[in-house]
Amino acid sequence: MEAKILSTGFPYRNLPRKYVRPESDRPKLPEVSGYEIVPVVDLGCDDKARLNQQIGDACRRFGVFQVVNHGVEKEAVEEMLRVADEFFKLPVEEKMELYSEDPTRTVRLSTSFNVTKEEIHNWRDYLRLHCWPLHQFLPHWPSNPSSFKEVVSKYVEAVRQLGLRLEEAISESLGLEQDCVKGILGEQGQHMAINYYPPCPEPELTYGLPAHTDPNTLTILLQDSQVCGLQVLHDGKWVAVNPHPHAFVVNIGDQLQALSNGVYKSVWHRAVVNADKPRISVASFLCPDDNALISAPPPLTANRSSPVYRNFTYSEYYKKFWSRNLDQEHCLELFKN
Ligand code: OGA
Ligand code: NI
Repeated sequence: MEAKILSTGFPYRNLPRKYVRPESDRPKLPEVSGYEIVPVVDLGCDDKARLNQQIGDACRRFGVFQVVNHGVEKEAVEEMLRVADEFFKLPVEEKMELYSEDPTRTVRLSTSFNVTKEEIHNWRDYLRLHCWPLHQFLPHWPSNPSSFKEVVSKYVEAVRQLGLRLEEAISESLGLEQDCVKGILGEQGQHMAINYYPPCPEPELTYGLPAHTDPNTLTILLQDSQVCGLQVLHDGKWVAVNPHPHAFVVNIGDQLQALSNGVYKSVWHRAVVNADKPRISVASFLCPDDNALISAPPPLTANRSSPVYRNFTYSEYYKKFWSRNLDQEHCLELFKN
């Protein structure tokens, strides 16, 4: 069996050709700013008005922020990273039983981004899980490592609480009622991508994930606590978002950009790889109900003749997103009025 995934346990000596980007499309790592400019929001702060303002500012200016004192227990986070690491260390034959290139599968191990659509691959393996409602999906999750289901379900529930709380703050920061944003999104689904970026022999020639925006509402990213790799685009420059102790990175996705009538930015971000150490990240995606009609509520469109985007359902958007390649124009552009 040809191993399609990268996490085979055998170190690579050379970067295979199908991962090499053309010169115009490389990470140009020396040009990336190392300044820590992505805001860190302390959710332990009692002053709600101030918190909402900080979150609103971050969403408008950056489309991304980090949160600390977020209420997810340290142990839940550490255990999550531990089972993620153990999973990718399983024998390749066992992992390959979960391998699929079909994005509609609710549990699948895959590699790169969209192997059937893309020409150049990315230096990443990932395990993607549908997570909510838990009782529906949990039985199908991997049962090796043996604590996987227990650890991941705990983590999923805690992160969901955080995500819903952030959506309330975001709603208020837009001048809307606390529950307005959640109301539009309906019964939200939740997906998880456990990303594994193996050490890469020529990191300057390729990406772990090339520049993209997330198609969902809100993403809560748990980064490897040791290894850098996440970068966001700010004012036309790539900026590193290095691991901050006990923080999550929160980024606005396409649905919040549409729902806020373009006021909040779905941030462009990418993951770069390195030659020395594997890197793990765990992305939790809150997603609108499939039938949720995404439209900016009237207070946000009052000053314009028409909203920036036409109304669409999330399922329509999601199908469009996965039918494309990450490198194409922004999917939201296709929904402009
Ligand atoms: C993602 C993502 C970034 C990272 O999974 O959508 O952007 O640092 N991940 O792994
Ligand atoms: Ni992303």
